Amino acid sequence: MKVLLIGSGGREHALAWKLAQSPLVSDLTCAPGNAGIATVAACVAVAADDILSLLGLIDRDGYDFVIVGPEQPLALGLVDALEARGVKVFGPTEAAAQLESSKSFTKDFCKRYNIPTADYGVFTDAAEAKAFLKTMNAPYVLKADGLAAGKGVVIPETLSDAEAELDEFFSGKFGEASTKVVIEEYMTGQEVSFFAISDGKTAIPLIGAQDHKRAFDGDKGPNTGGMGAYSPAPVFTQDAMAEVMGTIIHPTVAGMAKDGNPFKGVLFAGLMMTPEGPKLIEYNVRFGDPECQVIMRRLQSDLMEIFIAAEAGTLDTLTAPAWLNDPVVNVVLAAKGYPGSYEKGTTIKGLDAAQDIDGVVVFHAGTKLSDTGDVLANGGRVLNITSQASSLERAVQNAYKAIDECVDWPDGFCRRDIAHHALKTGR
Ligand code: AMP
Ligand code: GLY
Repeated sequence: MKVLLIGSGGREHALAWKLAQSPLVSDLTCAPGNAGIATVAACVAVAADDILSLLGLIDRDGYDFVIVGPEQPLALGLVDALEARGVKVFGPTEAAAQLESSKSFTKDFCKRYNIPTADYGVFTDAAEAKAFLKTMNAPYVLKADGLAAGKGVVIPETLSDAEAELDEFFSGKFGEASTKVVIEEYMTGQEVSFFAISDGKTAIPLIGAQDHKRAFDGDKGPNTGGMGAYSPAPVFTQDAMAEVMGTIIHPTVAGMAKDGNPFKGVLFAGLMMTPEGPKLIEYNVRFGDPECQVIMRRLQSDLMEIFIAAEAGTLDTLTAPAWLNDPVVNVVLAAKGYPGSYEKGTTIKGLDAAQDIDGVVVFHAGTKLSDTGDVLANGGRVLNITSQASSLERAVQNAYKAIDECVDWPDGFCRRDIAHHALKTGR
């Protein structure tokens, strides 16, 4: 099959790496890709959110199957446009992608289908929102309704801070995304990223992982896209996964179908493992980044076969995906300054040596090749050092060994405590 993958992050490098191993994929192209993806796929310089140019590329080059990595093209209706053309595509329609693109859509949906999540209110008016705040307990959870690149959630500790924050939301802190605001009950517990695949009728579980959203050690500093991940997450037991399939994933797939928005693609459930059981924090409609990288390294089955079954509506007949037991950790190397301003174009060396360490695979995120073939930093999150070993301790040691002894990039930084929680507590 001639396959087009859309995106340019570490998530897409991991997907491309896995797809390139599939006997079903004879020709793999990525738009726009990065320096790492270029080692396993042909890259074309079309941006992931440039829908018209993507459609032009697909019309011109004729792909058998398209896989969409990031959320923007999904929310912009790329899948709808491809389905109208008769092109096979893995990913949800614009209407189904509202599970990620509108938090109020998802909260109202969960309420109608009795899916466990935090209590909430939705507001377009500051006075009403403030009156509702007074009925809630601290800390307060405020969310911009629309897509805000993972930054649209603020959790003030005091009522006065929450009121001031609300004023900022309504005066355009996140532009159009925060003209509508969701206020939620604060939940406590460990967070888990869980992934399931749906063909619109049937959902099958993949596995769980844990992310590290804050920029610095000890979960300090600003929120980022994610600074590291590991899988399995010991807190997410087989029983917990079965419970989440039963209370959250299956009702979602059935509800979306019933509402006329059948969901095809990856359902990424951000879960809080609360004392009352797992509850949904939010949905994303694509793989997580940096979670996808650890999940792809544990997947033993053919990824393309899963995507084909999801597109064709035959997941009910697919053999359950098989997983390697050995844990995988992913330590993200980001450009100094990220998630604030940072430099681009600095040179990275030592990646081949890093991959000579047992169990280490490096996935690129924001990288590009210079005219002379050097790898240059080209974004905020730049590299993913993934490491698989027979124990989580060993996997973590090897990832940091690769970073400390091999990767030569003075302009980058990473967290030193990825997987610390599981290492310390065993859960
Ligand atoms: P979201 O973008 O909705 O995943 O929210 C970003 C982060 O905010 C989550 O990963 C949680 O750490 C936190 N968060 C969101 N909603 C809640 C909530 N209702 N209670 C506690 N923490 C939350
Ligand atoms: N790592 C969280 C996300 O991809 O949204």
